[in-house]
Amino acid sequence: MDRIRIVGGRPLNGVIPISGAKNAALPLMIASLLTDGTLTLENLPRLADVNLLMRILGNHGVDYKIEGKRPGDQPIAGQIVHLDAANIVDTTAPYELVSRMRASFWVVAPLLARMGEAKVSLPGGCAIGTRPVDLLLMVLEKLGASVEIESGYVLAKAPSGGLRGADITFSKVTVGGTHTALMAAVLAHGHTVLHNAACEPEVVDLADCLIKMGARIKGAGTPTIEIEGVGRLNGARHSVLPDRIEAGTYAMAVAMTGGDVLLEGARPELLQAGLDAIVASGATVTSNAQGIRVSRNGGRILPVDISTAPFPGFPTDLQAQFMALMTRAGGTSRITETIFENRFMHVQELARLGAHIKLEDDVAIVEGVEKLKGAPVMATDLRASVSLVIAALAAEGETIVHRVYHLDRGFEQLEQKLNQCGASVERIASGS
Ligand code: UD1
Repeated sequence: MDRIRIVGGRPLNGVIPISGAKNAALPLMIASLLTDGTLTLENLPRLADVNLLMRILGNHGVDYKIEGKRPGDQPIAGQIVHLDAANIVDTTAPYELVSRMRASFWVVAPLLARMGEAKVSLPGGCAIGTRPVDLLLMVLEKLGASVEIESGYVLAKAPSGGLRGADITFSKVTVGGTHTALMAAVLAHGHTVLHNAACEPEVVDLADCLIKMGARIKGAGTPTIEIEGVGRLNGARHSVLPDRIEAGTYAMAVAMTGGDVLLEGARPELLQAGLDAIVASGATVTSNAQGIRVSRNGGRILPVDISTAPFPGFPTDLQAQFMALMTRAGGTSRITETIFENRFMHVQELARLGAHIKLEDDVAIVEGVEKLKGAPVMATDLRASVSLVIAALAAEGETIVHRVYHLDRGFEQLEQKLNQCGASVERIASGS
């Protein structure tokens, strides 16, 4: 398995282009199942999760074409992909594929809405606590589907006249539940209202794309979303929104190592809670039409308490990275995780680099230390791995991060982006 070697202690200076958001790209690709027209997605990031989802969609009969690069294109410009689901040949999503990426479970909604049935393996994905799908199944049942679980598979069937609009209240804010409801209700008969819907920018991006495909949706980005079902959707062209988690991750890296970096294409309104915390830690953040600029020149990092929350709160997907930053703060900070239990697997790995962190239930108490020192560490999940990279960039000496396939799931060209700003990050291929 590939490893990454990082020699720390260098400030970051320069420009980092921000890729299309993984968490928007995945539901957008899945939405292609809703139409027999062609859905063209621009700014699609080159990621292992995107490639795996192409395979999963291919298995259902989706034809995809990736446009070649044109002369003059930026080296890190996103891909343009045409997805064509005119002929759905299989409504089963098998265990071998779905178990590798939780988001692929969401195919259940468009398959059910368009084909009237779906058989989808219960999901796998990042090991960050139990992640049930009860609310997603609740949505399908509310829309009139029958849902059974048999041998690890969800079997969902629409009633003979198709799905019917409904009034749906989420007991907990769920991004996947909201995506599922949107993709099922757009083709249901009649009116659907979602209460306590997720307000994440990726939900808005999906709704915007569905609207371009002919869906009738109002209120995406607020807790109440209204959907008027239509008989069919058409193809469309849509550009994936920039990745706020990638932007926040690099912003935290700069806040930790010092330096001055422009996060090109990043949008501050997608990341305000994260940026506020970075500013409170003593870094300078400004934004303009090009993106977000983060700098910190000297001075100790200040301790900041944060608590994760659904959007517009502090994102759980930046919790590990912020904890890395806080390991070198001049004082003690408290980091509370409210979305996922067991999302503190990075704590023991950060400790290998010299961090002082104590866990009390869902709170990590981080006592800042003067210095971190390089060490071998193990990536455990996507966001945890990148928190180790950030910490290693600011540590003295060499860190080897093992199991970097987690990083490849969600960070496009991580080494190149960091190295062009002066970092020393090198991939060591397995076997060498
Ligand atoms: C998405 C993101 C993930 C992010 C998370 C929260 C993608 C591909 N993944 O994951 O990166 O960390 O949102 O912002 O977009 N829950 C239930 N029952 C359900 C569904 C969820 O109890 O049926 C709970 C979960 O266990 C969790 C909370 O709801 O405690 C939020 O999860 P959810 O928003 O659904 O996360 P995902 O959509 O899986």
